[in-house]
Amino acid sequence: MLRMHDDGASVAFCKNKPKPDYDNGRRGAVMKKDIILPFMAVAILLSGCSKHNAEANYFSPGQFWYDDSGALINAHGGGILSYKNTYYWYGEYKSDTTSNAMTGVSCYSSQDLYTWHNEGIVLPVSDSPESDIQRGCILERPKVIFNESTGKFVMYFHLELKGQGYSAARVGIAVSETPTGPFTFIRSLRPNADILPLNMPSEAGLDKDESHYEGWSAEWVAAVRQGLFTWRDLHTGQMSRDMALYVDDDGKAYHIYASEENLTLQIAELTPDYLGYTGRYKRIQPAGHNEAPALFKKAGKYYMITSGCTGWAPNAARLLTADSLMGEWTLHENPCVGADADLTFHSQSTFVLPIEGKHNAFIFMADRWKPEKHTEGTYIWLPVQFGADGMPYLEWKDNWDLSVFK
Ligand code: DGJ
Repeated sequence: MLRMHDDGASVAFCKNKPKPDYDNGRRGAVMKKDIILPFMAVAILLSGCSKHNAEANYFSPGQFWYDDSGALINAHGGGILSYKNTYYWYGEYKSDTTSNAMTGVSCYSSQDLYTWHNEGIVLPVSDSPESDIQRGCILERPKVIFNESTGKFVMYFHLELKGQGYSAARVGIAVSETPTGPFTFIRSLRPNADILPLNMPSEAGLDKDESHYEGWSAEWVAAVRQGLFTWRDLHTGQMSRDMALYVDDDGKAYHIYASEENLTLQIAELTPDYLGYTGRYKRIQPAGHNEAPALFKKAGKYYMITSGCTGWAPNAARLLTADSLMGEWTLHENPCVGADADLTFHSQSTFVLPIEGKHNAFIFMADRWKPEKHTEGTYIWLPVQFGADGMPYLEWKDNWDLSVFK
């Protein structure tokens, strides 16, 4: 169950809790009652709350969600792997006072998507100054995929080296024998060093000296489209920040990441073991300024929901579609409708989950960040709905459950 924060029912119950009786003339008994009754009241209150919560098999986007031990779920910027009838939710284990990674990647498991069990920290940060994932680095948006041929679980995440802000723009790779870890960190890198994308425009007429441009001028935007930063980073590898992984029906996996100073998404094909890159990659929406990519596939068509780039503050989501992952991606209108659609309901995309055993049933997962206290950021899960034109859209729901999927 997703254990919700106090709701109307439990508050009403709190107001009606029994009061201790001080009036029976037997001091000892009164003392005992004095001690016992408040405890009983708390016990009744708790059992009332858990009973209520246990029956609450629904999602309450934006409320506090608790695991089966009663602790707040701490798995931000996350993604879900479905493996052998169990869902594994991996995410950033946030701290109260910093968004830097002080702990590592958390994992929760569930059979029904409502009740989550804490599987612990499956990739801990390191105390070694030699490690790329040293405590205090920035480790965001972990995603895990299963490789059928090697039998290994592979995790990719956005990594920023400790003390370097967001300048390193690397991807981290880790691997595990089991979905619940421990994951072993392999390496971090910038993808596709010394390789140009498959759809790189001609460099004819491109002034490759960044200092000759004024940021956001028409000339600069045109130069970014033409690959100003792709060329700049050719030898170091392409920048890689917000990211998604996608395994297609043929078993090929892809890494989709915000590159080129967050101005252009790139999609890169992974090697058959999912631990590296084949060198085939493409640019998506050059100068489109997208991050937070989340992909899904329906009836042979690929969909990607992204956000704009405004730090922890929400903005309007974008929708892109393509007939093949490495094909042409077309930009559409904001898929969110209704109140606060222009702010993605105060959240930012992180993943789209296909529901096991249901046809064309997807959950849009997003984060409502809370930079003042990151642990209190909440999760916005909404069903992906499809219009008469077949296009996906998202609308707010205070509460909903899986029965919305016919
Ligand atoms: C937006 C990204 O989507 C987040 O993952 C995080 O990197 C914040 N920016 C940091 O401001």
